[in-house]
Order: sequence, then C-alpha cells, then structure tokens
Amino acid sequence: MLQATGIYKSYGTLPILKGVDLHVNTGEIVSIVGASGAGKSTLLHIVGTLDRPDKGTVTINGTDIGTLSSKQLSAFRNEHIGFVFQFHHLLPEFTALENVCIPAFIKKVGRKEAEQRAEALLDLLGVAHRMDHKPAELSGGEQQRVAVARALVNNPDIVLADEPSGNLDSENASALHRLFVELRDRLNQTFVVVTHNEELAATADRIVHIKDGVIELNAE
Ligand SMILES: Nc1ncnc2c1ncn2[C@@H]1O[C@H](COP(=O)(O)OP(=O)(O)OP(=O)(O)O)[C@@H](O)[C@H]1O
Ligand SMILES: [Mg+2]
Repeated sequence: MLQATGIYKSYGTLPILKGVDLHVNTGEIVSIVGASGAGKSTLLHIVGTLDRPDKGTVTINGTDIGTLSSKQLSAFRNEHIGFVFQFHHLLPEFTALENVCIPAFIKKVGRKEAEQRAEALLDLLGVAHRMDHKPAELSGGEQQRVAVARALVNNPDIVLADEPSGNLDSENASALHRLFVELRDRLNQTFVVVTHNEELAATADRIVHIKDGVIELNAE
C-alpha cells in the first residue's frame, strides 16, 4: 500500500538519502532502525508527505503524492496518514477526548460522530476513563495512548510513528508495542515505526536498516 521508490534527499551539500526503496503491505508492521543521523526521520517525513524528496516517488494506496498541490497534500495527509511522534504533541488546553477529535473536525466530521469514534478508540486503548482530563493530568503512557487514538481517528491507511516509545519507561514502551500488534491484528492497521528500541523492532513483521543513505539488504 506504500511504495517509496528511489528516494533521494540532501540538506545543502549533505546527502542523507541516496536511493531508498521502501515498500509496505497493508496490515504489516515495518520498523526502521539505524544510527542517529542516518535519515530515519527524514524518510518518515517524506513518506508522510511532510517533506518532499529531491528525487523519487511515493505512492500511497495508488496516489502518487508528488503530484498533489500543498493544499491537496494537507487534506490527503489528514485523511490517509496518522502520525505518532516521540513527544506526543497533544494540545495542552484540550482534553484527551478533544485532542483525539481534532483531526476528525479538520476532516469536517460532525461533532457527535467524531466524539463517538474518539471515545471508542480511547476505550480500545484503555484510557476512556481519563478522556475528560487534559494531557498534563495524564501519565506519559496514557498521553502516548491518546496520541495513538488521535492518529487512528480518521481510519488512516497507514500510521507513521517516530520513536513513539522513546519517552516512555520500559513497561509503558512494551505496552505501546503490544498495542501496535493488537491494532494490526484487530483492525489490519499498517504501521511504519522508527525506533531505537530493539524490543519494539523485534515485534515488527519486518525490520528495515538504513545505513549510508540506503536500505541495507540482508541485514537481518
Ligand atoms: N532541516 C534540516 N536541515 C539540515 N540538516 C538536516 C535537517 N534535518 C535533518 N538534517 C540532518 O540530516 C541527517 C538525518 O537526520 P534525521 O533526523 O533523518 O536522522 P535520524 O536517523 O532520524 O536520527 P535520530 O535517530 O537521531 O533521530 C542528520 O545529519 C541531520 O542533522
Ligand atoms: Mg529521528
């Protein structure tokens, strides 16, 4: 469902990605590992339409995202891609429920329907009892689960996660990893997860190693 082909990206004169190919199937969890500075976040931003490659194409469920205008890209991103970051980026002045609803509101889903979806997801993720609380009143693991619910609220084709457990203790990190696997099993949700956490990488269906600007083959 995701095909990134021949991706090149440089910052100034510094080449970061030098012909990366990444193909992901529906219902697959792929983890991306590699040294700090290897270009993992850069690649995730490119496949997530947050950044454009210098060369190469990204196709998500048949749409070549390189052909979209920036306005079309924002709408495409909101509808098809869910993001989970290392720091959850929840909005502090809104409750957990409201935070989860926001991408649905942007998609012009009605309030009632958005809230129903958000509540169902918070329930699935085991934090429904905290939905009226603001992020500062939630634990790190709870905040991260709210962020996962927010990533899922528009039923995205793919969830992209950049060090989602980097900010969690080992217990919460394992819980988050189990959650990804459960969402894959229950919803056939597709994930691409950048991680330094070897335990999380090991729970993925496939591990992709980035080194020297390319995907290393036969690295496993
Ligand atoms: N906007 C930018 N301008 C210039 N250089 C950048 C920019 N963004 C990233 N870089 C450089 O590109 C390289 C790859 O960065 P990237 O964030 O993709 O690495 P990473 O693999 O995610 O590393 P980490 O594991 O530390 O998060 C780094 O050397 C970084 O300094
Ligand atoms: Mg990074």
